[in-house]
Amino acid sequence: MPREPMIAPSLLSADFARLADESHRVADADWLHFDVMDAHFVPNLTFGLPVMKAVQAVSPVPLDCHLMIENPERWAPGYAEAGARNVTVHAEACDDPRAVARDLRAAGALAGLALKPGTPLEDYLDVLPDFDTLLVMTVEPGFGGQEFIAEVLPKVRRARELVDTGHLRLFVEVDGGINADTIERAAGAGADVFVAGSAVFGADDPAKAIAALRSRAAAATAG
Ligand code: DX5
Ligand code: ZN
Repeated sequence: MPREPMIAPSLLSADFARLADESHRVADADWLHFDVMDAHFVPNLTFGLPVMKAVQAVSPVPLDCHLMIENPERWAPGYAEAGARNVTVHAEACDDPRAVARDLRAAGALAGLALKPGTPLEDYLDVLPDFDTLLVMTVEPGFGGQEFIAEVLPKVRRARELVDTGHLRLFVEVDGGINADTIERAAGAGADVFVAGSAVFGADDPAKAIAALRSRAAAATAG
């Protein structure tokens, strides 16, 4: 069964003064990636729940919220209640990832767990059955426009194996440095959701960039 690659443009690289227009420029994406940063878990600050609600109200694309924040137990369910399709919290920031997953699902969202490049998958194998998405960071979280870290690909490969052998049932999402040159490697390793910030919003024609990424990922998956 060929996997359908999903493309999730990251609003982090959009024009923050025109978020409604920017969400419409990527209307044919699968998810709209919304990077929440709190200047504590990562050394950068972006936007939070009030801005998410404003975007959610106008976006033609379902929201994929990536919470790079401390204490996600307290804040994550609000994003699910506001209507996000998927809400991802960082494993490194959670005391009890299972409890967060339960709250997110109860609020009607998919539950995602994110791992920084240096965080081993093995440490979280026991909680992953409670999640719908595994977000493998392919850069250090905090900033857009960084270079893809190919050393993380074995983690993507291992996650894909666990899904293909029926041990896990989740989307394998990659985030950071994904562009026309790197997406084939990520897709070949087994990712099925691809976050791309600068590669989409930095392009003259974001719709074209999405289509190109999708076809490159599909070709790498089929091969
Ligand atoms: C980084 C964010 C990413 C970022 C990706 O911490 O989680 O989602 O927007 O940007 P690019 O695609 O430019 O690496
Ligand atoms: Zn992200």
